[in-house]
Amino acid sequence: MSNTPKLSLRGVSKQFLAARATTPTLAVADFALDVSAGEFVCIVGPSGCGKSTVMNMIAGLDTPSAGTIQMDGRAITGPGADRGVMFQDYALMPWQTVAENVGFGLAHGTPGEGLTKAQREARVREYVELVGLVGAEKKYPHQLSGGMRQRVALARLLANGPEILLLDEPLGALDAQTRLILQVELLRIWGETRAREQRKTAIFITHDIEEAVFLGDRVVVMSSHPGRVKADIAIDLPRPRRESMRGEARFGEFTERIWSLIRDEAYRAIGGDTGAAQNHTTETTA
Ligand SMILES: Nc1ncnc2c1ncn2[C@@H]1O[C@H](COP(=O)(O)OP(=O)(O)OP(=O)(O)O)[C@@H](O)[C@H]1O
Ligand SMILES: [Mg+2]
Repeated sequence: MSNTPKLSLRGVSKQFLAARATTPTLAVADFALDVSAGEFVCIVGPSGCGKSTVMNMIAGLDTPSAGTIQMDGRAITGPGADRGVMFQDYALMPWQTVAENVGFGLAHGTPGEGLTKAQREARVREYVELVGLVGAEKKYPHQLSGGMRQRVALARLLANGPEILLLDEPLGALDAQTRLILQVELLRIWGETRAREQRKTAIFITHDIEEAVFLGDRVVVMSSHPGRVKADIAIDLPRPRRESMRGEARFGEFTERIWSLIRDEAYRAIGGDTGAAQNHTTETTA
């Protein structure tokens, strides 16, 4: 195995000049992150800390103001089928069926190049099955629940065969129960029960600390104004992750530690009183 990280961000900064503003906002500053092939890395941090900005730059949808982003040692210069992006709001095409949505990239983009119609259809069937939507192929997005729509979005992403999954709060719009179910599903689909080299590389943004601990091999905690890496915590809970782990002491230790890292900024972000928060929280000092 090569030592080159699958993804490497070095000294990445991003400035925005908002409309009518005279001075630019430094959204992300000197951001560094290495992700190995097959790793599942979660990014958490207070609202507005620059998580989506980092993700958009990795996706090639936006360019850094400074620094470098490399995939397999080569600079990322724009969007590519090697990176699949998924957002909170499904982004399905309402006039297309489930099967058409899943097959969209295959029919219209580079992922389908060189495939016959039959091969494309087989690929669509494979991923519809993987996400548990057999029987719903001919339905339209408005006929589906939020959870089903996110399954369609996930199937579409995977059908395009990306090497890196870029997931920006993909479960954020779902109700709590559906969300817990899809977390387990996502790990299965990502390849939790397979060997490391057969897993996709995944970067997953979430506001939900428990979700980050449940899913991730690592949780990267960001601080804001400007967005930087505040902590990078290895989550060495065994895989496959089980529902019952959420109640275990080690799980709670991880969530406590991460919350203690972002609590003050999170309260400030909503104009709250951090002092009051601390009085109600048991502080564990290392
Ligand atoms: N296109 C843009 N133009 C100007 N400012 C922007 C732009 N995109 C993001 N920003 C600013 O950059 C900062 C980081 O935004 P970003 O969306 O990356 O945060 P986030 O961590 O994803 O937040 P959330 O958790 O709410 O999704 C914010 O201050 C935001 O206002
Ligand atoms: Mg965001």
